[in-house]
Amino acid sequence: MININILSGTDRPNSNALKVSTYVAELFREKDVITEVHSLEDFPLKDVAGGRYGDDIPSVKKFNEGVLSGDGLVIVTPEYNGGFPGILKMFIDYLPFPKAFEKYPLCFIGEADGYFGALRPVEQLQAIATYRKAHIYPERLFIPRVNKEFDQEEGLRDDFKSELLQSQVEGFIRFTDQIKEMELINN
Ligand SMILES: Cc1cc2nc3c(=O)[nH]c(=O)nc-3n(C[C@H](O)[C@H](O)[C@H](O)COP(=O)(O)O)c2cc1C
Repeated sequence: MININILSGTDRPNSNALKVSTYVAELFREKDVITEVHSLEDFPLKDVAGGRYGDDIPSVKKFNEGVLSGDGLVIVTPEYNGGFPGILKMFIDYLPFPKAFEKYPLCFIGEADGYFGALRPVEQLQAIATYRKAHIYPERLFIPRVNKEFDQEEGLRDDFKSELLQSQVEGFIRFTDQIKEMELINN
C-alpha cells in the first residue's frame, strides 16, 4: 500500500487549490492509495516571523513531517503574479536542507484564472525540485479558467482534461511505487 499526500499551495481562505486538492485526493483513494490533504493555511507562519531560517521550530517541523510523511507528494499551485504563492516558497525554504525532496517523488498540478493554467508556477516549482534533487513526475496538469472549468463535486468539465488528470493520478501511483521499490532494493 502506498501513501501519497497532497499539498494545497496557498494560504488563501476558500482557495481553488484546496478544492482541487480535495477532489484529487478522492481520485487517489479510489485507487486504494492512502492520501491526506495538507494546506498551507496551516503553515505556522507566525512562528517563522523575523527570519528563523535554520532554527529548530517544533511547529514547522510537525507541519513539514506531515506533508512529507507519504511515499510521494502532489503539489497543487495557483498562479499569483506569474509565479507560485510566496507562502509556498516559505514552506520550501523552511524544509530541512539538503535532505528534504531528495529522491522524493513529486507531481504538479497548476490552476489559475488565466489561459495557461499556472504553467509558469509549475515550471518554476519544477526548477526548484530539480535543484533539490527530487524525482519529478513528468506529466503535469494545468487547469486554466479554473472557476469555469472546475467544480468541486464533479471535477474537470473538459473531458480531455479529465482524462489527463486520471492518467496523471494512475501514472504517479506507478511512478511512486516503482521508486519506493527501487529505494528498498538499493538500501
Ligand atoms: C495575488 C493574486 C495574484 C494573481 N495573479 C494571477 C496571475 O498572474 N495569472 C493568473 O492567471 N491568475 C492570477 N490570479 C488569479 C488566480 O490564479 C486564480 O484566482 C486562482 O484560482 C487562485 O487560486 P486560489 O483560489 O487557489 O488562491 C491571481 C490571484 C491572486 C489572489
